[in-house]
Amino acid sequence: MAADLQIPDRETQLLLKELAKTADVPGDVVEFGCYMGDTSVQLARAMEDNPDKWLYLYDSFEGLPAKTAEDQSADGWRFKEGELKASPDSVAHKFKKYQLPDPVIVKGWFNELTADDLPAQISFALLDGDFYESIKTSFTLVAPRLNPGGIIAVHDYRNAALPGSAKAVTEFMEAHEAEYDFRLAGTMAILVKH
Ligand SMILES: C[S@@+](CC[C@H](N)C(=O)[O-])C[C@H]1O[C@@H](n2cnc3c(N)ncnc32)[C@H](O)[C@@H]1O
Repeated sequence: MAADLQIPDRETQLLLKELAKTADVPGDVVEFGCYMGDTSVQLARAMEDNPDKWLYLYDSFEGLPAKTAEDQSADGWRFKEGELKASPDSVAHKFKKYQLPDPVIVKGWFNELTADDLPAQISFALLDGDFYESIKTSFTLVAPRLNPGGIIAVHDYRNAALPGSAKAVTEFMEAHEAEYDFRLAGTMAILVKH
């Protein structure tokens, strides 16, 4: 018998509301930084009514990379290189446990991914790589493939412990202001493509 998914926390509920807004936008759903797949299974459950969409999950599965200067904060001792290490098998197992369709799981550093690793079109993206370079690279992979009406949700935009996330979002919006609407949902930045 399939195990019951946990009721999503408030932040995940906000995320799923944003996902629902993109149900009619062509393209697939991507998560950059899936870790153990806890949010991934919630995305997958919410996508069950939309079986034409695939869920792509990306992670180094080696844990976090090294911080750069943009990631330093008063909480700098937290989030060390190599922390948050999970395995593709454990994520795949979680999907089986909840009887969800298999996602596409891609192991690798974001800056080593190629076009072959990505869907041709994207409707919704969750960027949750914690650090400046990780979020910045995720933007460069997602933005050219995001369809109009599509949404990029960036985790930790309002998290003083992870200032690199907000910096990457601010820089992206400065360069693409005319193409995206910007708002907040909980601690996330929500960017909606015109
Ligand atoms: C906070 S966790 C993700 C949490 C997950 N989205 C969730 O909601 O449960 C951040 C993940 O991003 C991955 N990550 C961060 N920077 C990365 C990079 N540059 N390339 C690949 N993976 C990266 C880490 O390995 C880690 O598993």
